[in-house]
Amino acid sequence: MIASARVCIFKCSNKHLKVWVRKISDSSGNGTRDRMRAWQIHSYGGLDVLCMTDSARVPAVKHPEDVLVEISASSVNPMDVAMMGGYGARSLNFVKKLQAGSRDMIEFPLTLGRDFSGKIVEKGHGVPESLKVGDTVWGVVSPFQQGCHAQFAIAPVSSVTLKPSNLSDIEAASILYTAVTAWSSLKLTGELCIQSAKGKNVLVIGGSGGLGSCAIQMLKAWGAQVVTTCNSDAVPFVETLGADCVIDYNDPNAEILIKEAGKYDIIFNAAGISNPVYGDTLKSKGCAKYITATSPLLRNVDRHGLALGMAKNVFDLISSNLSVSTTPFFLGGPTVRWGFFIPFSKAIEEIAELTSNCKLTPTIEKTFSFSELPAAYQKVLDGHSRGKTVIDMKSA
Ligand SMILES: NC(=O)c1ccc[n+]([C@@H]2O[C@H](COP(=O)([O-])OP(=O)(O)OC[C@H]3O[C@@H](n4cnc5c(N)ncnc54)[C@H](OP(=O)(O)O)[C@@H]3O)[C@@H](O)[C@H]2O)c1
Repeated sequence: MIASARVCIFKCSNKHLKVWVRKISDSSGNGTRDRMRAWQIHSYGGLDVLCMTDSARVPAVKHPEDVLVEISASSVNPMDVAMMGGYGARSLNFVKKLQAGSRDMIEFPLTLGRDFSGKIVEKGHGVPESLKVGDTVWGVVSPFQQGCHAQFAIAPVSSVTLKPSNLSDIEAASILYTAVTAWSSLKLTGELCIQSAKGKNVLVIGGSGGLGSCAIQMLKAWGAQVVTTCNSDAVPFVETLGADCVIDYNDPNAEILIKEAGKYDIIFNAAGISNPVYGDTLKSKGCAKYITATSPLLRNVDRHGLALGMAKNVFDLISSNLSVSTTPFFLGGPTVRWGFFIPFSKAIEEIAELTSNCKLTPTIEKTFSFSELPAAYQKVLDGHSRGKTVIDMKSA
């Protein structure tokens, strides 16, 4: 499992370029390699833009605090499917350009995939001794980086920890992107890091998806009272997650039931639906919050460009805050906030503890082999998820 590297010097346009040609030993024991299998896109579009290659370059550890991971499994998130269609490209490319500095920003080929389990095969000199080459880890990669639907991926050490031993590779790969998003939406955006969640009444809209199922379990572990909504067929599954009240949104009395179970300190929209809904069920005083993981932030920049898009974002945030309740936010009424995936190391540590103590359990809906990745994307595209869709990189 030891990585080696050699330097090649070749001539190009009268310039001598120094190129690191890297040879990574993989777990197959078939010697060293500098090429890998990966699913990539070369333009934005539908499922037909997904291409599998055997000759993608194994990414290089360029920063002292990065690790190179041989991926065992990775999940498919709605974000992957959206990014395949170009969602967020303008904002993501803007940040990538800033990161690239004087170098050219490379948009394509683009590898998707945000969370993984795997083995460290190489590490930068700034990576602490607690993470060694050969360790089994789990982690996330931000949308500003190449993803992990590939045999190898680079991740910053702040987004990687040892895999909890009670989880299989598939289970570990299924949970971090949504769990980190739920954690940052509730703890940071929802301020549950400064106010105790104990006794708070929280409505999770969409308890049956990846995000909602994590949010319910975390909120229960933190001592909150949890009411959630889901489709009729998902009720038995969502009940197993520990919510105090599960409401079938097809029930003709659903709105009445949601109102009766209020008023809420927090409503977390984890269903990917437009906002805000049920705003009048929030407490009118005491800094109640409507948090949505479906903000228009990236979409506005995609549509209107950076400057106009950001202006539209400010407008959208203010107008949704003014319309959420009859008590305006500047008089202590509820606020509307946008929750995001923020790959905070504290989040991953706390999620590792919750999973180790079986307070947060991954739910796998379906596992696909690496070569079946387009079918896995189709499954996520079709919606109605009941847990996570995972790619087993070790099966062909
Ligand atoms: N901002 C960020 O950084 C970030 C990060 C992660 C996710 N997200 C977004 O958050 C949303 C959820 O993500 P996810 O990974 O959990 O997606 P998911 O796994 O597809 O789950 C969505 C769930 O919501 C349910 N649902 C749909 N409409 C509903 C409604 N009206 N009421 C209650 N439940 C409803 C769906 O089942 P049924 O259709 O059968 O009801 C499904 O189970 C997506 O839009 C995603 O893009 C944002």
